[in-house]
Amino acid sequence: MTSLEDTARALVAEGKGILAADESDGTIKKRFDSIGAESTEENRRAYRELLFATEGAEDYISGVILFDETIRQSDEDGTPFPRLLESKGIIPGIKVDKGAKPLALSDDETITEGLDGLRDRLSEYRELGARFAKWRATYSIAADEPSEYCVWTNAHALARYAALCQEAGLVPIVEPEVLQDGTHTLEESRKATGRVLQAVYTELHDQRLDYRGTLLKPNMVLSGYDAPDRAGIQEVAEATLECFYKHVPAAVPGIVFLSGGQSDEDATAHLNAMNALGPHPWELSFSYGRALQAPALKAWGGKPENVEAAQRAYYHRAKMNGAARTGMYAPEMETAGVA
Ligand code: 13P
Repeated sequence: MTSLEDTARALVAEGKGILAADESDGTIKKRFDSIGAESTEENRRAYRELLFATEGAEDYISGVILFDETIRQSDEDGTPFPRLLESKGIIPGIKVDKGAKPLALSDDETITEGLDGLRDRLSEYRELGARFAKWRATYSIAADEPSEYCVWTNAHALARYAALCQEAGLVPIVEPEVLQDGTHTLEESRKATGRVLQAVYTELHDQRLDYRGTLLKPNMVLSGYDAPDRAGIQEVAEATLECFYKHVPAAVPGIVFLSGGQSDEDATAHLNAMNALGPHPWELSFSYGRALQAPALKAWGGKPENVEAAQRAYYHRAKMNGAARTGMYAPEMETAGVA
């Protein structure tokens, strides 16, 4: 086993998943606005420290994705965040894309940027302690979307990023996110997600990636958030699995889903239902941002006196998702033993 494969497998260890805490400046400002907190560098640092220092979270959290600012920050005692995480057995990772920008000559589709200078940035991040990286491409479902143009340009960029990561000794998390906004049906989501995955694995293969040292971070296959008669938990689990069985090579160690605007309990229940249908060729895990953080962010409200309540809320969501890793989650666990 290569060291890349070791890291990828450690990130999807039994009962554990990843915390995505890599919100860019714009996104974290939106999250802070929602709780009436100011997005200053110190507030962002304090909030991230609250999450990273939560006692016991390491029982359910294998890795954390950091943002450029955060990987350079330290806790109150001066311990750099990557060191703090490592001391708990949590693997530090880093978001390396520069965001989804308008795709030239398209109406409103996007291409993710950040390839220029990436080789040098990856080597700096590795020095700072990162062992894996993330790059997110986004696609919309609409009449003629995602277009072949958007699907293939993003697949090509994802594979270029992933190859540079493996060269630098970092595990690439490949994140093609088909956004689930709108009124599309479950079947439309499955088709769009399948087309995107087909292109991504074609490009990863052509660009010489070793799948064993990669992880896939996809959307789940859902009915559009505004669709009438939205599919239930079981239907979502089955449609998502059908799509991934068709398109994701068995050599990929794990599929770590994003939550993408689902409620935190839905994200947990969907993951649980898929694992209950296992075993599968790949580990099915989580790499949630909002679905792990939303209750903690609300409990914190930007106030130092709420840090412990926020840590309890984060710990609880981590534990629920840890249970969903083995199909052992039940909604009754949401209230049992919560302070
Ligand atoms: P969400 O779980 O909030 O979708 O965030 C995951 C992520 O990292 C998106 O890039």
